[in-house]
Amino acid sequence: MNIALVILAAGKGTRMNSDIPKVLHPVGQAPMLAHALRAGAELNPDRIVVVAGHGAEAVARAVHELDESATVAVQNEQLGTAHAVAQARPALRGFSGELVVLYGDTPLLQADTLQRMVAARASHDLVILGFEAADPGRYGRLVMRDGELERIVEHKDATDEERAITLCNSGILSCDCDLLFDLIDEVGNDNAAGEYYLTDVVELARRRGLSVTAIACDESQTLGVNSRAELAAAEAAFQARARAELLANGVTLLAPDTVYLAFDTVIGRDAVIEPNVIFGPGVTVESGALIRAFSHLEGCHVSRGAIVGPFARLRPGTELAEEVRVGNFVEIKNAVIDAGAKVNHLSYVGDASVGARSNIGAGTITCNYDGVMKHRTEIGSDVFIGSDTMLVAPVKLGDGAMTATGTVVTRDVEPGALAIARAPQLNKPGRARKLMDMLRVKKARLKKETP
Ligand code: UD1
Ligand code: CA
Repeated sequence: MNIALVILAAGKGTRMNSDIPKVLHPVGQAPMLAHALRAGAELNPDRIVVVAGHGAEAVARAVHELDESATVAVQNEQLGTAHAVAQARPALRGFSGELVVLYGDTPLLQADTLQRMVAARASHDLVILGFEAADPGRYGRLVMRDGELERIVEHKDATDEERAITLCNSGILSCDCDLLFDLIDEVGNDNAAGEYYLTDVVELARRRGLSVTAIACDESQTLGVNSRAELAAAEAAFQARARAELLANGVTLLAPDTVYLAFDTVIGRDAVIEPNVIFGPGVTVESGALIRAFSHLEGCHVSRGAIVGPFARLRPGTELAEEVRVGNFVEIKNAVIDAGAKVNHLSYVGDASVGARSNIGAGTITCNYDGVMKHRTEIGSDVFIGSDTMLVAPVKLGDGAMTATGTVVTRDVEPGALAIARAPQLNKPGRARKLMDMLRVKKARLKKETP
């Protein structure tokens, strides 16, 4: 079956009180629009049209980044959801098949629900996605009669009796493309908001004697975000779902509610995640790895058996091989740490490679930035970097090399060599005691002078 997706994303989102277009606000660290695109993509659509309006340029840029096959139709004036869908018409010229309308501000919708909707189309002309709302608030209400969907009434236009209905409209629908545009042509704006409501197509279809049905999904999928409070609720729901999926997949989360996941976090079976760990986008953690408390990971890959943290920060481009140890107060960026290597305490390793089994001593820093450009540090295997070594990049250390504690390495170190660069130590007998006495006298004098 040919399928086209239209994603509505032109609304201002006044109640967000934001300069950012509503659909670009993130849930699980991806714009809400990306969630709609991801769910829709599972229908293998032939065409995707995003209807943008407020902040159309920013939305168009995001769309282009997220899915090159999607096109953007601009709705200059937000005259309502039916008017919005009509703006997609030119982009769908020549298309015939199924049209699925999604909202850019409904980020929790799952692909299998869309599949169920499209399947329900086999026996109905128009399928609406509804849900039982615990608090129906401002949602449109589904007016059912004898098991059939008769019409949708917007909250603003509803009578008290209709407002008592708890079965609500998610906004998502599926219909033959030509038929839907035909129905939309008949939609007027004689209602409380003076808008062209997409929801009116239900009644219009019924008048033509067509069959209309509503299928229901769990409310957790249909949360529409109109305010920061709802954005926070959507985030909470996203996190709850993502945590539950990890638990079901055999990941141990010691305190699930304190672990924050991104839309694309991948964690293998038998990995253990301690409390208060934050995953930014682009993280994969393999089976059996241990991420200890208060660590922050983004854009990185952690292999089997590695141990990270507590209090570690892995930034984009970090690749930890098997059995690597990254300890407390260590920051790693754009660096490959090979199997069994250890960076256990208080270090910064950036734009670097560290060979297998090498040990990076406490307080080591790769000085990768000269104020203008970034440079690489290449450390071979079985290297021992003494505590407080400054590695001034670009610099290379061969296999089995060593640096003495406190060394500032500015030149390459050949394999097996020891680099030592520090002032020789001088011990002055009795000098410490004299110095202390002098300082005490000075302090006493200062005390007398100041009243
Ligand atoms: C809409 C539905 C309501 C449903 C609710 C679910 C209508 C008339 N009402 O109400 O029945 O319960 O969603 O969340 O459809 N948009 C445009 N252009 C416009 C107007 C809206 O692109 O001119 C987009 C918005 O960006 C948003 C979506 O359409 O993504 C829904 O619009 P919104 O104004 O939030 O509709 P609701 O009043 O919430
Ligand atoms: Ca809405």
